[in-house]
Amino acid sequence: MKILVINGPNLNMLSKRDESQYSNLNIEQIINLLCKEFPDCKFTSYQSNIEGELVTEIQNAATLYDGMIINPGAYAHTSVAIKDALEICKIPKIEVHLSHLANREEYRQTLLTAKSTNGYISGFKENSYLAAAFLLLKLI
Ligand code: DQA
Repeated sequence: MKILVINGPNLNMLSKRDESQYSNLNIEQIINLLCKEFPDCKFTSYQSNIEGELVTEIQNAATLYDGMIINPGAYAHTSVAIKDALEICKIPKIEVHLSHLANREEYRQTLLTAKSTNGYISGFKENSYLAAAFLLLKLI
């Protein structure tokens, strides 16, 4: 199984962010965890801070991967462009969030991009990604 793991803005800065909300691991370490837990899968990691680059990566994913895990970062709450790209991309997709969004600020309560995915997981820090991979394999 080929799985694309997309991380959006500021997720390349996890070591500088609030550990109590997010994770003390960086993206590379999270990908290593995924590889260890799911040795039969090939995980490809992509991170960008730029909305249009994320859109292009999602557009290209359908022909290259069996499934997608995406953490759109703050774009999860605002990006119609990413939501539309996810809708066009017909492979199974799960949105993840490290933090527990239901317990956070009002402006993080809108989950726009998640509407174009098969579902979302929030609040389990790096384990959100492991849960997403487990569920994605059920969908593929
Ligand atoms: C996040 C939650 C977003 O609200 C925030 O802007 C992020 C990270 C998470 O993984 O918990 O950058 O997507």
